[in-house]
Amino acid sequence: MSSNDWINIHALKTLNRLLPRMEHIFRNGIQEDPESWWQFKSRLEREWIELFRYLHQLYGWQYDFYYTLEQVLRTLAKNWIQRPEELKQMDLERESNPECFNSENMVGGVLYVDLFSGNLTKLNEHISYFKKLGLTYLHLMPIFAVPHGDNDGGYAVSDYRSVNPDIGTMEELSKIASLLRKEGISLALDFVFNHTSDEHAWAKQARSGDPELEAFYHLFPDRHVPDQYQRHLRDIFPTVRRGSFTWVNEIKKWVWTTFHSFQWDLNYNNPEVFRAMAEEMLFLANQGVEVLRLDAVAFIWKRLGTNCENLPEAHILIRAFNAMARIAAPSLLFKSEAIVHPDEVIKYIDKKECRLSYNPLLMALIWEALASRDVRLLSYTMRHRSRIPKGCTWVNYLRCHDDIGWTFDDADARAVGISPEDHRRFLNDFYTGRFPDSFARGVPFQFNEDTHDMRISGTLASLAGLEDALEKNDDRLIEMAVKRINMLRSIMLSIGGIPLIYLGDEWAMINDYTYLDDPLKINDSRWIHRSKMNWDKHKDLADQDTIEWHFFNEMIKLIYIRKKTPAFQNADMDVFDTGNDHLFGFIRKNNNNRRVMVIANFSEKKQKVKLSHMDSCDMLKKYQDLITGNIISCGSDLELEPYGFVWLS
Ligand code: GLC
Ligand code: GLC
Repeated sequence: MSSNDWINIHALKTLNRLLPRMEHIFRNGIQEDPESWWQFKSRLEREWIELFRYLHQLYGWQYDFYYTLEQVLRTLAKNWIQRPEELKQMDLERESNPECFNSENMVGGVLYVDLFSGNLTKLNEHISYFKKLGLTYLHLMPIFAVPHGDNDGGYAVSDYRSVNPDIGTMEELSKIASLLRKEGISLALDFVFNHTSDEHAWAKQARSGDPELEAFYHLFPDRHVPDQYQRHLRDIFPTVRRGSFTWVNEIKKWVWTTFHSFQWDLNYNNPEVFRAMAEEMLFLANQGVEVLRLDAVAFIWKRLGTNCENLPEAHILIRAFNAMARIAAPSLLFKSEAIVHPDEVIKYIDKKECRLSYNPLLMALIWEALASRDVRLLSYTMRHRSRIPKGCTWVNYLRCHDDIGWTFDDADARAVGISPEDHRRFLNDFYTGRFPDSFARGVPFQFNEDTHDMRISGTLASLAGLEDALEKNDDRLIEMAVKRINMLRSIMLSIGGIPLIYLGDEWAMINDYTYLDDPLKINDSRWIHRSKMNWDKHKDLADQDTIEWHFFNEMIKLIYIRKKTPAFQNADMDVFDTGNDHLFGFIRKNNNNRRVMVIANFSEKKQKVKLSHMDSCDMLKKYQDLITGNIISCGSDLELEPYGFVWLS
C-alpha cells in the first residue's frame, strides 16, 4: 500500500467516525434545516481528503492529531451553522460561477475608512461615488481594534472580531458588506494572520505566563536559538529596529517579531493556532467579507537555517485555510500579498491557494520603465512572467498604501543588458528626486545602512511629476505629468486582471507632508501617501477646468471603455516587440478571437511604430482606437504623442 493510499484510508476512516458527531451538532444546533446539513456534508465529503492531507503534512506527527481533526471539524460545522442565509445563497451562485472575478467588469478600490470618510456610517454616503467610478470590489484597509498609538496603520490587530471604535462596529461592517453586495460591490478585508498585536488577548495571556497561550507565539528563554535564526533573516523595517526578536520583560523571554516589536508572529507549528485563526477567518467570512487579503503571507512559517520566507509549509497552510473556506464559506476568495521575488510571488497563485494576487512586479517595472524611458526590462519580464493558472487573476495597481520595492529578477535585468545593482541605485535616486532632471518627488523608505537597500514612498501623482510641475507652475511640465499619469492608468486598466485604484489617485492626490509633524508617523514615510481625503477639493470635480476634474473624468472614461470591450473578457495577454524601446505593447485576445492591441509611449518625445510589423497585420486591415475613435490603417506608421497610448481594436 502506498503512503497515498494509507492517507486516503485514514482520512475516510476519520471522517466516518466523526460524521455522526457533526450531525449531532447540527441536530442540537440552531438549525434543523436538513438542506443545510446536506450542503455541509456534501462539501465536507468533497474536500475532506485534501484538507486531511494538508493537516497531516503539517501536524500529523503530533500525538493528538486526531483531536486537532475533531476540533477543525467542529469549527467548520459551527461556522457553517452560523453563516447567514444571504451568504449561503451567494455560495451556491459562486460555486457555479467561480471565475466571475475574471471579468472586464471588475474594478477595485482601496481606502482607509478613517481617512476617507471618518467612519463606517459615513462610508455609506459614498456608495454612489463608488458606483460612479465603476467599482465592483472595495478593500477597506484594516479597521480592527488596535493598540492606541503606533499600530502599523492597523496591521497590529488586537481583536479580529471588533472594529476599532473610532471607526465603527462589527454590526455596521456587516451591514455595509450587505449594502455593497446589493450594489454589485464585493467587500475585501485583510486577514492579518502572520501576527497579532502585543495587546491581543492571546498575547496578554502569554505575557501573564499562561503556557497554552505562550505556545501561540515563538518564545525563547535566551538568545541561543534566536541568534541562530537571525543569521538568515532580513530586517523588514531596519530604520525602526534591527533584528527579528523582542524582549518580553514580564516573562523574561524573547518573542519573534518580524515587523514591529509590537507585532508578535504567530506560531503555526501549533495546530491550535491554525484552528483559532481559521475560526477568525470564518467569522469574518460570515460578516459578509468576500475577499480576504492574506497579509504578509510569505512569513507565516519558520524553519531554522532558512530565511523563513516562502517556505513550502506556508503554501500548505494556505491550502488548508482555503480547503476550510471551501467547506464552510465557499464564496470566500483569497488574495495574496507576497511582495517578494517574482519566482515566489507566482507560487501562491493557484485555485487551491490564492485566486487573486497583487502584481508587485508589474507595478515596480512600470515605474522602472517610466524613469528610464525604456521598456526593455518591462517587456522582457512580462513576456515570461505574467502567465498564471486559469481561474486566477492578477490585481494590478500603480500605488498602494505600502512602499515600492524593486523586486525584479536580477537575471532578467542582465538579460537585457542592465546591471541590477546599479539600476536599483538609479531608480532610488530617480524617485527621491536626486537624479538630475528627475520629475519624481518620492521619499526614501527603510534605508538600510548595511546593505544600502531602500524602498520608495510617494503618491502616484507625486512620483509621476505632478507635484514638481505644480510647484514650478510650469504648464508644459503639468501637461507632461498629466499625460504620464493617464498613460500609466491605461496599462493598469487593460493589461489583464483586476485594476485596483488607491482612492485619491483617481484625482491625482499629491504627497501629504503632515506626517512629519506627527511623532507617531514621522518614522514611517509611507504616511506621505496615506492622506486624508480632501472632499473640499473634490467639490471641484463639478468644475471642468480643474486638473482634478480632468483626472477623474479620464479615469471614468477609461473604466467605461474597459467595461464595454469584450476583448478584455477572460483574455490572454501577449507582450510583443514594438521595435521601439520607448514603446510598450501587448495584445489581449479572448476565446472568440476578439483582440485589442495596446501600445504605450514611455517617453516625453513623439515616437513612431510600424503597425505592419505587428500582430500578423495585413496591409488592408484597419484599426480603431477605442479611446479616440480614430481609424488607423495597418499599412501606415502610427505616431504616438509624448506619453500617448492607444487601445487598437
Ligand atoms: C503588510 C502590509 C504592511 C504592513 C505589514 C505588516 O505588508 O501591507 O502595511 O506593514 O504587512 O503587517
Ligand atoms: C516587505 C514585506 C511586505 C510588506 C512590506 C512593508 O516588503 O515583504 O510584505 O508589505 O515590507 O513595507
